Amino acid sequence: MKKIFVSVVVVFCLSISACASSKYRVYQECKHTEGAAPSITEVLHYDLDVVKRMMHILERASSCLEKNESVSKEIFDDIIEVISGFSDKHHQEKEDKVLFPALKVKDGGKKKDLLGRLLMEHVSARDEIRNLAKAINNIHHGKKAQKKIIKEARSYIKHMEKHIEMEEKILFPWINRVLTPDEHIMLTKKFEDMEREDIDAGVHEKYSAMIERLEQQLGLCSE
Ligand SMILES: [Fe+2]
Ligand SMILES: [Fe+2]
Repeated sequence: MKKIFVSVVVVFCLSISACASSKYRVYQECKHTEGAAPSITEVLHYDLDVVKRMMHILERASSCLEKNESVSKEIFDDIIEVISGFSDKHHQEKEDKVLFPALKVKDGGKKKDLLGRLLMEHVSARDEIRNLAKAINNIHHGKKAQKKIIKEARSYIKHMEKHIEMEEKILFPWINRVLTPDEHIMLTKKFEDMEREDIDAGVHEKYSAMIERLEQQLGLCSE
């Protein structure tokens, strides 16, 4: 499976120039070009790689459950914790609070509607995760309850796939056209400031370890 960095590593790359080595190196591949500051879309792509990895894990857990293989409540709870902490908080908050407000006025406000739609999709994604968490609480209540988990999980995955596709195909190319290099640097710095507390508390390393563990645990169930 493709290995990626979280954006903390990108930020770290900025200060040490090109990911030489670090305890923060929680993912195994550094794509960032030596000496160059990452664009804001590069930072977001790294985040989305983690989000996609989590969706793959969630689909794997769901298909294991569907095949009557045992998947513990703890595994699903860990998946919810990482998705809520990483996708919802780490990634979407950066878009909601920093990126989208800055983009609203760009290019004569041309993408205001798209940004409003993406913002609403973040709200729906959080609703879907809450529904999934509720369904997981009933995991021991038999087959019907397990089917509900699978249904909610796949609904969330489908929702996020559409959302990510829109960001990667429409939003990011537009961002790269309309933002100046200085604006990329300014927004990257604001992202870094937002994440400072989590970086200092080692939250990213914690999620990284949880993702690795979940992939190993779910690797034991048959394809
Ligand atoms: Fe995003
Ligand atoms: Fe988004």
